[in-house]
Amino acid sequence: MQNIQSIGIVGAGQMGRGIAQVAAMSGFKVLLFDVSEEGLKKGMDFIKNQLDKGVDKGKWDAAFVTQTMSAVTAVTEMSALSNCDLLIEAATENKVVKFDIFKKLDEVAKASAILATNTSSISITEIAAVTKRPSLVAGMHFMNPVPVMKLVEGIRGLETSDDTFNTVAAVAEKMGKVFVRANDVPGFAVNRILMPMINEAVYALYEGVASIQDIDQAMKLGTNQPMGPLELADFIGLDTCLAIMNVLNEGLGDTKYRPCPLLKKYVLAGRMGRKSGRGFYEYK
Ligand code: CAA
Repeated sequence: MQNIQSIGIVGAGQMGRGIAQVAAMSGFKVLLFDVSEEGLKKGMDFIKNQLDKGVDKGKWDAAFVTQTMSAVTAVTEMSALSNCDLLIEAATENKVVKFDIFKKLDEVAKASAILATNTSSISITEIAAVTKRPSLVAGMHFMNPVPVMKLVEGIRGLETSDDTFNTVAAVAEKMGKVFVRANDVPGFAVNRILMPMINEAVYALYEGVASIQDIDQAMKLGTNQPMGPLELADFIGLDTCLAIMNVLNEGLGDTKYRPCPLLKKYVLAGRMGRKSGRGFYEYK
């Protein structure tokens, strides 16, 4: 198993900054990369803010915040990741974007570096195939909000080596997460089950079964979920939900995975959920 000390995170958005925070809190040296300086600043500010909240709640002290923040370096050049032992890509859920990033990472990363992706549904085997090191590629699927959710879904591509998979499992465990192993099929385990449920909730709304509030209340109070499915869809991002449904629909070829027309319409209208200020609900 490889001894991982430094982790490069690609993408300072919702997931990347959460992974960076948890990695730094767990004693790893972290390089947080994003092409956007503004995005990086937002990501770093968010991490600092989250850590400060922990001080207010008495979870840790100010010295821990200073130590954790000093473990994270923000970078805008991918070449800065060349000495990292592990790279975790957390960019947009889009095949073209991810393939391009993996080609570039394969060029800049040192030969022994493991390349992991936080994809929520795209084939690990296919991502690995754009690199010259498929045995060193694996899926590490974190859940949002990363600091709170206990799961990392581990996905093994066709060529992923035992050593690579055991190494990413150990990294996830060092981050305090439970590592669940899933096969490389569209949606893996979590989204194979979660997204059809969310999509069905959108169909229920589309067909007038119940209102937005009643669908969410029914599922929260009736099945003990912390958020109703439509609230959760807003939280994940409706564009991401649609992208995952498209992967399930195309990859599994069963009509039960067709995305609800209302979900498509919301995305076309720019209602992406919390991040755009409006989805099924409005956010101030
Ligand atoms: N980042 C970091 N911490 C956060 C946070 C965030 N964005 N949002 C909430 N928290 C923390 C709070 O600080 C608080 O911590 P403490 O208990 O230590 O004080 C804790 O979470 C609870 O927060 P709140 O009391 O404010 O709110 P809540 O009790 O309503 O919980 C929630 C908020 C944790 C988000 C909860 O609603 C929940 O678990 N929702 C479901 C989330 C979920 O299902 N995520 C998975 C989505 S699927 C996915 O990510 C993968 C994919 O591929 C689509």
